[in-house]
Amino acid sequence: MRLVAAPMASHHLDQVMDLENACFPHPWPRRVFQALMANPRAITLVGRRLPQPTVAAVLCLMLETEIGQEEPTLAMIQNLVVHPEYRRRGVAAHMLLTGLQEAYRRGGRRALLEVRPSNQAARRLYYSLGFEQTGRKPGYYAIPPEDAIVLGCRLENLFGPPRENG
Ligand SMILES: CC(C)(COP(=O)(O)OP(=O)(O)OC[C@H]1O[C@@H](n2cnc3c(N)ncnc32)[C@H](O)[C@@H]1OP(=O)(O)O)[C@@H](O)C(=O)NCCC(=O)NCCS
Repeated sequence: MRLVAAPMASHHLDQVMDLENACFPHPWPRRVFQALMANPRAITLVGRRLPQPTVAAVLCLMLETEIGQEEPTLAMIQNLVVHPEYRRRGVAAHMLLTGLQEAYRRGGRRALLEVRPSNQAARRLYYSLGFEQTGRKPGYYAIPPEDAIVLGCRLENLFGPPRENG
């Protein structure tokens, strides 16, 4: 399978919403994706199986400024989903590495996300890429109620030391 990760565009939104609605009990509304696509600090990607135009995966990251920093160095992973038909073929890992590399290129130095402890697939995916648990947020999720595990990774560990400018 040849998978290409490319920036999300308006014409992908119907398929993005179909994927979200099929995979999440509380999918993001369309306007959230529209706002992210217009946000220069967001990285929004769709994964497509070429030559088919079908959207097989979605990834949304946001570059945020950490306390004490002046530049946005924190890549928050906000949304990752792979169509059930295409799971366990390395699609999510490919999407993450593509998105995180772009975040790194833009100055991101650390990646962070929240995940349900019961989401074994996602946890194993992140551990396989080198993420480690950095915290826990009690009662973070409402429906169904569950704590969140916070996972983090230094992007240098994935992509090597940052290049010096000039
Ligand atoms: C979690 C999710 C994104 C994984 O997508 P995927 O494309 O199947 O993941 P990959 O094929 O890239 O998996 C890479 C590695 O992650 C781990 N992994 C992924 N899914 C797994 C599963 N169901 N069980 C155990 N390990 C799993 C494995 O180590 C896997 O490597 P391997 O297949 O060589 O053993 C997908 O299951 C999904 O969309 N789930 C619903 C939405 C969701 O939970 N999103 C994450 C919210 S934080």
